[in-house]
Amino acid sequence: MKQAREQWTSKIGFILAAAGSAVGLGAVWRLPYVAGVNGGGAFFLIFLLFTLLLGSSLLLAEFIIGRKTQKDPISAFKELAPNSSWYMIGVLGVVSCCLILSFYAVVGGWIVTYLFRSIFGSLTGRSSGEYSELFASIISNPWEVGAAHLVFIIITILVVQKGIQKGIERASTIMMPLLFIIFLLLVVRAVTLDGAAEGISFFLSPDFSQVTGETVLFALGQAFFSLSLGVSIMITYSSYLSKQDSLIHSAGSVVGLSILIAFLAGLAIFPGVFAFGLQPDEGPSLIFTVLPAVFSEIAFGGLFLSLFLMLLLFATLTSAFSLLEIVVTTAAKNNKQRRKKAAWIAGLAVFLLGIPSNLSFGVLADWDVFGDTFFNQIDFLVSNILLPLGALLISIFVPLKMKKPELKHELLTGTSLHTRYFEVWYFLIKYVTPAAIVIAMLDLLGFL
Ligand code: PFF
Repeated sequence: MKQAREQWTSKIGFILAAAGSAVGLGAVWRLPYVAGVNGGGAFFLIFLLFTLLLGSSLLLAEFIIGRKTQKDPISAFKELAPNSSWYMIGVLGVVSCCLILSFYAVVGGWIVTYLFRSIFGSLTGRSSGEYSELFASIISNPWEVGAAHLVFIIITILVVQKGIQKGIERASTIMMPLLFIIFLLLVVRAVTLDGAAEGISFFLSPDFSQVTGETVLFALGQAFFSLSLGVSIMITYSSYLSKQDSLIHSAGSVVGLSILIAFLAGLAIFPGVFAFGLQPDEGPSLIFTVLPAVFSEIAFGGLFLSLFLMLLLFATLTSAFSLLEIVVTTAAKNNKQRRKKAAWIAGLAVFLLGIPSNLSFGVLADWDVFGDTFFNQIDFLVSNILLPLGALLISIFVPLKMKKPELKHELLTGTSLHTRYFEVWYFLIKYVTPAAIVIAMLDLLGFL
């Protein structure tokens, strides 16, 4: 029997879920750090520009495909371009999401372990050197990180199997406002620390002398990664939208929220790092080694650390929901019973796929996969190849295969905006976005 397709119960539910997908490790940790070492405020400004112009255009393109077809990504491309190979963009999205989730859940597991330790034991009161040792010993212990990795995946499965309204929307509408409140608390605490000013100016004062070609390209990649673009996630989420909602308003809210959270993340993290004379370090270690040391130095540090880890867990989980949802909806279509089964099978398969990434910091640390660890290679493959490739193909597909009047109709529904706005978007998606992606990809792969 054919079952009705679910829809988000409200526009705000959709916006919070989509913003939840966007806001994750990328915004909370990676962006402020990269901004910090690439000219501070200058990097942030370039990132903002790319997010507002190119990220928003691509986000709208994915929204148009999803809302127009109301289907999973593979079926969506099949409907829009029948008897062609364009549906492979959807296949690429599903495969990329499995790969991203496989290593994203490993980091999710580290957060689970840290949160557990910070609540039930004590994580504060050590020196920063001791935190590095502790982090190394935790991530190389296969049983502890393996169990935490599994816990993270099971939470993700339990939410996604419940479906769009009772699962993802409900969890996101609880987690996202909490995330925001915890962030505000932490920002207030961070900017009132003695010596916070140095951290704030490190993050915000634009120093264009440090900006190189590579910095600009990095900012572009960060803009796409931060908005979860190129892997059909936003196609999937917008496929549950009603036909009356305005795509432009929703996209504006999603972009606005992710910029706001990225900004708050910088303000929460850097003042403490600088106030206590610590160095912003590279890689996931910043969160796990420097921040516990920062929190050890302030009153109620243990409590603030647990809050921070909870925030990070929420941000990472809401991104993980979107990654699993795309696989589940493709396998189960609209069938509720199949959704449950698909969520468990896909979730556990992705867990198994993530095991070599998980062990890359311990037992498999010496396993050389084309010159790097398995974890780093999967991350490189997804972030620098599959994700930009997906984004490029979508920006080619939309102006080529969809008619201008139907694009205009989808884009302007629910708004009183002038046609001129449509023309600006069309120009950005047809010319500027693909050109920028091609240049970025060629450069990152060493061809420029
Ligand atoms: N946007 C998420 C972040 O910034 O952490 C990461 C992400 C999620 C990227 C989902 C891509 C994706 F498909």
